[in-house]
Amino acid sequence: MDEPERPRALAFESTEDRGSSPEGAPTIGDIMAARLDRRALCQGLGRGLAAAVVLGEPLASTTRADTSAADGAASAFRFAELAGGARETHHVAPGYDADVLIRWGDMVLDGAPQFDSAHQTAEAQSRQFGYNNDFIGYLPIDGRSDHGLLVVNHEYTNEELMFPGLGRQDGRAGFAATTAEHVAIEMAAHGGTVIEVRREAGKWRVIDGSRYARRITAETAMRLSGPAAGHRRMCTSADPAGLTVQGMINNCAGATTPWGTWLTCEENFNGYFWGKDARARHPDADDLARYGIPGEWFAWGRFHDRFDIAKEPNEPSRFGWVVEIDPFDPNSVPVKRTALGRFKHEGAGNVVNRDGRFVVYQGDDERFEHVYRFISDDKVDLADRGANRDLLDHGTLSVARFLPDGRGEWLALVHGRGPLTAANGFADQGDVVIRARQAADLLGATRMDRPEDVEVSPVTGKVYVMLTRNERRKAEETDAANPRGPNPFGHIIEIVPDDGDHAAAGFRWEILVRCGDPAIGAVGATFNPSTSARGWFSSPDNCVFDALGRLWVATDGNVQGAVDGLFALDTDGNARGRSRHFFSAPIGAEVCGPCFTPDLETLFLAVQHPGQTEAESLWQGISTYDNPTTRWPDFVAGRPPRPAVVAITRMNGGRIGA
Ligand code: FEO
Ligand code: CA
Ligand code: CA
Repeated sequence: MDEPERPRALAFESTEDRGSSPEGAPTIGDIMAARLDRRALCQGLGRGLAAAVVLGEPLASTTRADTSAADGAASAFRFAELAGGARETHHVAPGYDADVLIRWGDMVLDGAPQFDSAHQTAEAQSRQFGYNNDFIGYLPIDGRSDHGLLVVNHEYTNEELMFPGLGRQDGRAGFAATTAEHVAIEMAAHGGTVIEVRREAGKWRVIDGSRYARRITAETAMRLSGPAAGHRRMCTSADPAGLTVQGMINNCAGATTPWGTWLTCEENFNGYFWGKDARARHPDADDLARYGIPGEWFAWGRFHDRFDIAKEPNEPSRFGWVVEIDPFDPNSVPVKRTALGRFKHEGAGNVVNRDGRFVVYQGDDERFEHVYRFISDDKVDLADRGANRDLLDHGTLSVARFLPDGRGEWLALVHGRGPLTAANGFADQGDVVIRARQAADLLGATRMDRPEDVEVSPVTGKVYVMLTRNERRKAEETDAANPRGPNPFGHIIEIVPDDGDHAAAGFRWEILVRCGDPAIGAVGATFNPSTSARGWFSSPDNCVFDALGRLWVATDGNVQGAVDGLFALDTDGNARGRSRHFFSAPIGAEVCGPCFTPDLETLFLAVQHPGQTEAESLWQGISTYDNPTTRWPDFVAGRPPRPAVVAITRMNGGRIGA
């Protein structure tokens, strides 16, 4: 999910913006947080700060053809840049199609009723495509680029856009109009989806009746594994052994693995819990506070005791994990892999190290949080898929410290090592992974500007960290790796592992680009000067490397024209730092899940929370089901906007952007 500059995204992002990191005095944001509801806060903060620096012009409704020649021969990308677009719908670079593949409410499982937005039910939703699609993974069948499985995360729900007449509900008003059925629908709209897809005559379609089709929700039975499985902090009345969990929530980005599984990452899980009045009496009150629990963003705690910490004090420990799912076995039990740590995971960018071990890079998306790395003890077995079944249960989790001289080091989160002892509240490795943030604090990890995706170039082995922004960082809190305070535009850090070894203790790093409008000196943006007036961006979030080693960056909270999009960003040669605009989202949406087929001929994108716009935005009034700022992608009177996955292909065939 994320962020905001706009809508409820703002809500989530706002929490992320608010931060739970203990250091630092209260800011104006904190003071506002006490007085405003969650979403208003997000909105006001994001837009206000951005507006203070950039007064965006309206986007043109036409495209502009930056020729390849003008792009410079060194650029790895070749396409005519998108100049902008009308805000009610999406736009893609000239010469490309962007077709809607599947939308919220479309059939996933046999027997799903036809989508009826005015009369939605939990039973229907549990068989239909969920809400707010985020991560997308493509898993080929028989190695094909025209036939495979798509795995998709459903991060959160927007009740004001999903339900007629409901409007926006929040904890301050006691979720007055929210019913048990609303909550049941929301829970069924969370989680993830597996669909089988095929490209025929150039167009992609979902295969009905596929044996792989699956919906995973906030109530799907899951298993805990790794150091926190069976830990005392994981035991509840429904699961006294601490080994099983009902559901996954707020799954943001993720990854696929070389052995064909799906890693789906729980992010802002704190927002689902109730019990603010009970926190002070909770035995782990400080731990809850460090993670922003309880958030009370949804009404779930009214109808489900497990989402109320006064009634089920350990339930929050069972969320905030990376979940591994085998999409090729629809009966497989998803597994929460606790060895990878508990925090607000963005994604799980990974690589098989040259010694055969599996390495996962992870961002904890909240202001002043950290960047993590997990290294498996054992080697990946590419010849025997089943041999990797427990690979993610044994390994070493580390956190990054960025030094001012361009060096960096990975600090191991291992019980008994350094300060991670019982004297500091870490009785065992279970405590270390459950309280990963506190462990990272003790080790002196660098407090970053909201780490989102972290991805590895398949060509150079360099690692790229998207730092989406941090309006709360003060000038006196800046450091070499987070050099702007405040930082409303974000930046991207490039990490070079020592000796090209992803298991090395040290690395070199530098900032690839400081984001924002290069035309405004005070912004301090550092895009390549060949970047066009429409090519720059802010708030980098999800990203992907294609098979050619080219970086594509999606934004969430972009101030360029006030719409989010997908940008192609050169990382090497004399075009390094050059950005070009490829796709723009409809109003209110962020772009998630960039995902290529292996042949590079299709790019799947997730358009999340279209129409999520709030008061004081460009449109007056809160965008709702009954009066949305867009009805994308159907544009049918009376029907609300629908989060959807689009498939982008070249009109004349061939590789994307090549
Ligand atoms: Fe859900 Fe950090 O984006
Ligand atoms: Ca994100
Ligand atoms: Ca974000």
